[in-house]
Amino acid sequence: MVPLMDLRRRVAACEPEMGEAVARVLASGRLLLGPELWAFEAEFASFVGRRFAVGVASGTDAITLVLRALGIGPGDEVVVPAFTAVPTLAAVCAAGAVPVPVDVDERTGAIDPAAARAAIGARTRAIVPVHLYGLPSDEVVEDLLATGLPVVEDAAHAHGALVGGRTAAAAYSFYPTKNLGGIGDGGAVVTDDEALADRVRLLRHHGMRELYLHEEIATNARMSEIEAAGLRVGLARLADGNRRRREIAERYRAAAPGLHWHPAHPRHVHHLCVVRVPDREAFRARVGFETGVHYPRAATRQPAYLGFARFACPRAEAWAAECVSLPCFPELRDEEVGEVCRALAAEAGRGETRS
Ligand SMILES: Cc1ncc(COP(=O)(O)O)c(C=O)c1O
Repeated sequence: MVPLMDLRRRVAACEPEMGEAVARVLASGRLLLGPELWAFEAEFASFVGRRFAVGVASGTDAITLVLRALGIGPGDEVVVPAFTAVPTLAAVCAAGAVPVPVDVDERTGAIDPAAARAAIGARTRAIVPVHLYGLPSDEVVEDLLATGLPVVEDAAHAHGALVGGRTAAAAYSFYPTKNLGGIGDGGAVVTDDEALADRVRLLRHHGMRELYLHEEIATNARMSEIEAAGLRVGLARLADGNRRRREIAERYRAAAPGLHWHPAHPRHVHHLCVVRVPDREAFRARVGFETGVHYPRAATRQPAYLGFARFACPRAEAWAAECVSLPCFPELRDEEVGEVCRALAAEAGRGETRS
């Protein structure tokens, strides 16, 4: 069966450099806060077109630490989309603030700027849009910047989709299946604001600049040297990998133009290639290749987050009911892409493509 993702192939495609990188770190005896991290931070900042990158332990930590670095905490509210991975909200909670989920755009699944503006109140301190599935939400970000509130981009799906930017910061995840995936967990904050970068560096390392001098109560969110070294290997392949993802997504779309596709964009990096189908379980059972669902519930329908549901989010719920993720990763073989194309064309031929 064509897999949704195969991490063995992804790791194999990085050899022998990946094994050499790990061996280099182990031999060096420097396992944390060392030359691999400094080099990765410089290389990643340059790749995304921002002045600073700060490596942290996960994408969730990246969002939490930016919010904390912006001075956001208990008593504050942060507006988020209701259709996203739950870590977007969990990160706000970890900063001590309240996530306020709002509805998303019918076409893109990204936060609806009008819904975000309507949710702004006296306690609102920031907005966190998500570049869902790897589609750069440039216009949404511009619209949100016009509110005057700090905008923190959740770029967990968007490695390579964003060029520079005027937001306070963007937060990346290097969870192993991401376009730039690590050996384990990892994340990064990118920003043009030197003071903000400096504060995130302080917060990831127990508030220490000088050994055992703790300037503030913080946390441990360091990225390991092995992770940084592995990410440097992945970063060198990221642009090619994104090109291959785009090519695969274009072949799917061309094979079945009648399906209800997540929109195309020249900078879409297809972390996930998503189609909407009215009867998802029947579609998944029929197609004969592996599929995924990102995400099966709106955040406002997650048991742990029900208490944050303040606004109706029918468009987020419709996305959650209909979205299906298709196999789309750089190491997918051409014959596998062909097999998926044939199954999609057959689905389009059934004519049940829109609810
Ligand atoms: C949209 C989104 N935001 C945030 C995260 C959190 O990243 P991590 O798993 O690295 O903490 C993820 C990844 O799972 C994600 O998909």
